[in-house]
Amino acid sequence: MAFTFTDKYLKSFVSDEKLKAIEPEIMRSVATLENRNGAGNDFLGWVDLPVDYDKEEFDRIKDAAQRIRKSCDVFIVIGIGGSYLGARAAIEFVKGNYYNSLPKKTPDIYFVGNDISSSHLSEMISLCDGRDVCVNVISKSGTTTEPAVAFRVFRDLLIKKYGDKASEHIFATTDKARGALRAQADSLGYESFVIPDDVGGRYSVLTAVGLLPIAVAGIDIDEMMAGAAKARAELAAGDVMTNPCYKYAAIRNILYREGKSVEILVSNDPALTLTCEWWKQLFGESEGKDGKGLYPSSAIYSTDLHSMGQFIQQGERVMFETVIDVNINDGFTIPYDEGNSDGLNFLAGKEMNFVNQKAFMGTVMAHTDGNVPNCVIDLTSRSAGDFGYLVYFFEKAVAVSGYTLGINPFDQPGVEAYKKNMFALLDKPGYSEQKKELEARINAIG
Ligand code: PA5
Repeated sequence: MAFTFTDKYLKSFVSDEKLKAIEPEIMRSVATLENRNGAGNDFLGWVDLPVDYDKEEFDRIKDAAQRIRKSCDVFIVIGIGGSYLGARAAIEFVKGNYYNSLPKKTPDIYFVGNDISSSHLSEMISLCDGRDVCVNVISKSGTTTEPAVAFRVFRDLLIKKYGDKASEHIFATTDKARGALRAQADSLGYESFVIPDDVGGRYSVLTAVGLLPIAVAGIDIDEMMAGAAKARAELAAGDVMTNPCYKYAAIRNILYREGKSVEILVSNDPALTLTCEWWKQLFGESEGKDGKGLYPSSAIYSTDLHSMGQFIQQGERVMFETVIDVNINDGFTIPYDEGNSDGLNFLAGKEMNFVNQKAFMGTVMAHTDGNVPNCVIDLTSRSAGDFGYLVYFFEKAVAVSGYTLGINPFDQPGVEAYKKNMFALLDKPGYSEQKKELEARINAIG
């Protein structure tokens, strides 16, 4: 496992003097987090989770994963936001983008209930034709519409397939006591797992929310927790100059105050595409409130250099980049071609990773020349432990960064607004007044 954070390409934008100047504020935020006396302090379960988790449930997760691997060809994970992004990110991070297509001894894993597209759902149903299916429905509240609707559809499919044995194919991950899903799990006898009260959705990947799907994919969840525990220990001490987590939080706040409004999380490995999506939720939902916050964006290089590269190099100077440089020498080399018809023999015998590293370095230099500050995280492997480490690094960084920004990093009041409108327009019982008012406004628009 290897994780290194560096600000060496950033010095002309964020000097040591600037870091020292913001240090008292950052360390106050760290103290607020440690003393558990800040806003949202009833959602700090993630802080000690890597070492303080329910060991009995952890073993049950491993047992269930083993049974699922034996009994099904397709594993359907139903959830949205924090109830799906972490698991999908981990599976792609460790296993790559083609987990489902490559030969393996574990089930195909599909994620549904994270949109309201009928074609997406129908395609998933078709993928289950003639195959054994297990379902993991995940919802902390147990009431979120998207996964609830998808679960209704898949429950119906399982009942048609397995009759009164359908419940044996269903695994529910939800609150210990509240919500419709808890009631269903208890009354219909689904094996169930608990999302702790003090862990919010976007901080929940190291609970059963993430761990069951990740374990079904054959990923070592002990190693993942050990990686997170290593981060927890290593990132507990020091100051802005010595603790990379505090330094990252400081850099983000300095650049924000100097006018940057967008942070792009970049990786040069497409296996991190979903890690970027997970990060966007973590940072966007934690910091984007009270009219404040850096807008979290993402890009995969070199792919997006051919689409967004122009804007990043020369467009409005509003962004900085946090680059996760995946630097793995796996022995994959570029072949020699006798005729050299493509003129590429200057690369013959070189590792693909060598080329990727030169592209990474060339891009960092070009973008910093173009006034886009770059901080860099180096990864020399994509193990379960690395993923656990990265998760904890970002969770702690956003907590410290958010307190420094002056917001509550653990709530998400804005997420409710669209739901209320959607329920009103769908005529959900209890929303008749909002329905009338909203429809009048829509009609006035024409
Ligand atoms: O972070 C959050 O709270 C949200 O994005 C939730 O994760 C998402 O809305 C899903 O909620 P639930 O797990 O209650 O279905």
